[in-house]
Amino acid sequence: MGSETSDSRPVILDADPGVDDALAIMLALGSPELAVLGICTVSGNVSLDIGTGNALRVLALLGRDEVPVYPGAGGPLRREAVYATEVHGPGGLGDSALPLPGRSSSGDAVSFLIETLSALPGEVTLIAVGPLTNLALAEARAPGVLKKAREVCVMGGAVDEPGNITPVAEFNFFADPEAARQVVRSGASITLAPLDVTHRVALEASHLAEMPATPTGRFVRGAVRPAMELAMRVRAGRQFFLHDPLAVGLAICPSLFRIETVFADVETGGDLTAGQVVADRRLFTTEGNRKGLPIRCALDVDAGRFLALFFPRIFSEAVSREDSRR
Ligand code: RIB
Ligand code: CA
Repeated sequence: MGSETSDSRPVILDADPGVDDALAIMLALGSPELAVLGICTVSGNVSLDIGTGNALRVLALLGRDEVPVYPGAGGPLRREAVYATEVHGPGGLGDSALPLPGRSSSGDAVSFLIETLSALPGEVTLIAVGPLTNLALAEARAPGVLKKAREVCVMGGAVDEPGNITPVAEFNFFADPEAARQVVRSGASITLAPLDVTHRVALEASHLAEMPATPTGRFVRGAVRPAMELAMRVRAGRQFFLHDPLAVGLAICPSLFRIETVFADVETGGDLTAGQVVADRRLFTTEGNRKGLPIRCALDVDAGRFLALFFPRIFSEAVSREDSRR
């Protein structure tokens, strides 16, 4: 078993693996504060099938084949699927080369979400790091189910920060704006890790040089390399932003973040603005007149403290013990 203990916080990860999703899985499984009940997959960075296979591959790398993987939505609620293979590579895990998974996925993500949240009301934290299609489908099939989560930590959106897929929208919210709006409007206890914080924490080339010469260290170096090269070409900076691990960080150590309650909603109609987080921060408006719902948004983070927590966990003793057995 992993490093969790009897008083660890039960969590479900909903992801579109994707390189930073893989790092989020490694962080969650290497953190004694969390007990991962299962991983749900969704179409996003890559297709559902590729993402599901990647989740299984990463779990095998970590020696954690006991963690179930539940495939979910093969595309957004209403739009054509958009992918991010220019960042994550056609296989979704950069230049890494993990063996094919030796096991298949379990049932269905939406059923797993509904059954688990209903069986453990107020106990389970959802950590959603891909488009929110699975969560929206769960809410549509079982109205009120998302409010049964202890907390819903979401990597998505941009409040005061420019978008990363359009001038104003972040990829997860752009890929399925209708789902993002439905989750925001569900009344669930949402804590958002928008680009405002995720653009403040990145892997640099120096970090790669310090990674352990183990299968896990080799995996991370290979996975992030193409995205870092792309960043070098377009931004003149070899960086890999730790978007999804920061959503896990919200569940592990919220004190790393400056969190502000913002009245917000998600745009779904605009040609130029679909997926945008619209925050109502007007100076001369009473709370009762604000547009949107009150959402906790992480708007700053202690990047040094986060990285000091991140590296020991993704290369945690449990994992390196597994490495030593290879
Ligand atoms: O915008 C960043 C988000 O989009 C991350 O979750 C990344 O994995 C991609 O899904
Ligand atoms: Ca993701």
